[in-house]
Amino acid sequence: MDASTETFEARLTATAREIEAVLETLLSPSALKGEIARPERLRSAMHYASLNGGKRLRPFLVIEAASLLGGDRDAALRVGAALECVHCYSLVHDDLPAMDDDDLRRGKPTVHIAYDEATAILAGDSLLTYAFDIIASPETVLPDKAKVTLTLALARAAGIGGMAGGQALDLAAERQAPDEQGIVTLQAMKTGALIRFACEAGAIIAGASSEDCVRLRQFGERIGLAFQLADDILDLTSDAATMGKATGKDAGRGKGTLVAMHGMAWAEAKLAEQVLAAEALVAPYSERGTILAETARFIAGRKS
Ligand code: IPE
Ligand code: IPE
Ligand code: MG
Ligand code: MG
Ligand code: MG
Repeated sequence: MDASTETFEARLTATAREIEAVLETLLSPSALKGEIARPERLRSAMHYASLNGGKRLRPFLVIEAASLLGGDRDAALRVGAALECVHCYSLVHDDLPAMDDDDLRRGKPTVHIAYDEATAILAGDSLLTYAFDIIASPETVLPDKAKVTLTLALARAAGIGGMAGGQALDLAAERQAPDEQGIVTLQAMKTGALIRFACEAGAIIAGASSEDCVRLRQFGERIGLAFQLADDILDLTSDAATMGKATGKDAGRGKGTLVAMHGMAWAEAKLAEQVLAAEALVAPYSERGTILAETARFIAGRKS
């Protein structure tokens, strides 16, 4: 590992700890104003689902994109925590027996195993709802217009036209294999949309120009595709101990992946192409764009 990789990973870890501190407070047992009570088993399942050692890449992207464009760090931490809630909900539901039926996530039993299926469904529902609470809350100090823009963008990234829609296409693909464009669309939705939102959110928090917003969105699209390509490659090449989740399952379930369609060499080349394109998008920011460029390389080269 060279010095810059080490610095990058230290920065990612430090930011993860900050996000976890925010999540810890958000998921405390005391009910917020307007809430009636927090049922302990459900709160505990939400805590288990979100404070269990993820990489926190999406919040990191929100924070670094905001920082690049001069956005407020505390606001970015709150929006990053909101996005992580949506991501964690998506994992809890993705692992359910009706979906990927997985027992292991982040090196621990999945929520429906550690608790039960109904609790896992409700923990996911509550995490998703909480994300919008966190953005709207007065504790997130941003202009109302920015909050509305973030709410709309997150809703569109998470819902039928984004992550949830992509998950539906992913399950349909198990029954009927999509063509290449179908796979690209499915992946842009199921994984890409939340990652693109992360980058765009940073620009919104910073009140950036439309040119910067578009640039960050495009950067997010490239690394989103890179992210799922890497996930699909790792499903074939890594193991459960390293990944903290089952591997070798995509082929068995007939998941539509570009790796399955075109092979490993093609996928590696496509991955490198996405990283180059992502780097070029942040090159105009020169030094200030370095962290995002490193994040693109990290996503492509990650081992877990
Ligand atoms: C895993 O996402 C799910 C996919 C979208 C492929 P991450 O690899 O970011 O998972 P965590 O949050 O670090 O566990
Ligand atoms: C899931 O993709 C993406 C979402 C949770 C939206 P995968 O099903 O490939 O993710 P893993 O491999 O279980 O993490
Ligand atoms: Mg899945
Ligand atoms: Mg899965
Ligand atoms: Mg996968």
